[in-house]
Amino acid sequence: MLRYLTAGESHGPALTAIVEGMPSNVPLDAADIDADLVRRMGGYGRGGRMKIEEDAVEILGGVRHGKTLGGPIALVIRNRDWANWRATMAPDAAAARQAPERPPMTRPRPGHADLAGGLKYDHHDLRNVLERASARETAARVAVGAVCKCLLREFGVRVIGHVVEMGGIRAHTERLAAAEIADLAEGSPVRCADPAATRRIMAKIDEAQARGTSLGGVFEVVVLGAPVGLGTHVHWDRRLDGRLAQALMSIQAVKGVEIGPAFDVARAWGCDVQDEIRYRAGGSGDAYSRGFYRETNFAGGLEGGMTTGQPIVLRAAMKPISTQHRPLLSVDVVSKEASRAGVERTDITAVPAAAVVGEAVVAFEMARALREKFGGDSLAEMRRNYTGYLDHLGAW
Ligand SMILES: Cc1cc2nc3c(=O)[nH]c(=O)nc-3n(C[C@H](O)[C@H](O)[C@H](O)COP(=O)(O)O)c2cc1C
Repeated sequence: MLRYLTAGESHGPALTAIVEGMPSNVPLDAADIDADLVRRMGGYGRGGRMKIEEDAVEILGGVRHGKTLGGPIALVIRNRDWANWRATMAPDAAAARQAPERPPMTRPRPGHADLAGGLKYDHHDLRNVLERASARETAARVAVGAVCKCLLREFGVRVIGHVVEMGGIRAHTERLAAAEIADLAEGSPVRCADPAATRRIMAKIDEAQARGTSLGGVFEVVVLGAPVGLGTHVHWDRRLDGRLAQALMSIQAVKGVEIGPAFDVARAWGCDVQDEIRYRAGGSGDAYSRGFYRETNFAGGLEGGMTTGQPIVLRAAMKPISTQHRPLLSVDVVSKEASRAGVERTDITAVPAAAVVGEAVVAFEMARALREKFGGDSLAEMRRNYTGYLDHLGAW
């Protein structure tokens, strides 16, 4: 079973992740992970924090001479900002008895975990909640996703995240191949493959900044090269559609997920939105479903909780960042007096970064599904099982 845990607070010393269940001999280098960490930090409209951090991973276990060993992989990303928070975030009790660097945070911010978490965990200093709830944690998830991408790469699976809508401005990428989308999005300051939309979105971000407010949007994650039959229909919690949706929904500020054009499909006549099955003898509509193919992909690459062999298309809706230039109305949890919410450093928008986080969480779920289907302790063993499966499909 492929699984991972992360630990660490936004202004603590570091973020940590342990990834377990990778086979041995998968080529993996810190540079593979750093490339995605840098991608996550970018995006027009990010706030001051990203100017402080220069994320880079340290691999503390599970990798030797550029290859996985088969044991748990331990990753650390140090927080540069920790230098300014040593007393506030010190783990030892003695620090709490010293003069405080910062007052306790007692005014919960609407749209954040502050109030529900404070009540639930019995913390009157809401920093004890917000430090872990912060999307700084997504740096660790991006590192985990980069590890998973190294495995996916070995099986020709690619995951591409890009922004399709921000501030009500939609990108038009219908005529572009996925590889083109990836290249164009990579060159866009807002990770959007439509240059005209990029310009309009940037202007909209400037407008949001001038108004002292924030912007949300929609990002898409496309998976190419996944073979037919990952995931299963047999149990609700093993359906890959459910797992992918959960993974995306778990990203901070994501409030909606769709697979394929799900919401448009829901509004259409049934006869207009089916992916009819065709067969081309001796050939393959796509390389992974051996002769069976579809002209359309309304299902977004998933039927019955399993991959169809078509591109998997997932979309996630991110709400506008909650923190506003003019702090929102709140109530002090100690004095119970009406007040303005506490303010933490904030982005105007983080949809481009969230697209990179989306890639990471989807990469993890795809790697997990691949591990479940093909098993193996080493990459070679896993590959033998994979090739055997493709041979089986070929014999159909
Ligand atoms: C990459 C990324 C960066 C974020 N940056 C901010 C930010 O600067 N300010 C903010 O208020 N929320 C930010 N958020 C969103 C909050 O973390 C999120 O809204 C909050 O933790 C509450 O979770 P929920 O919106 O899922 O309920 C960011 C989210 C992501 C994915």
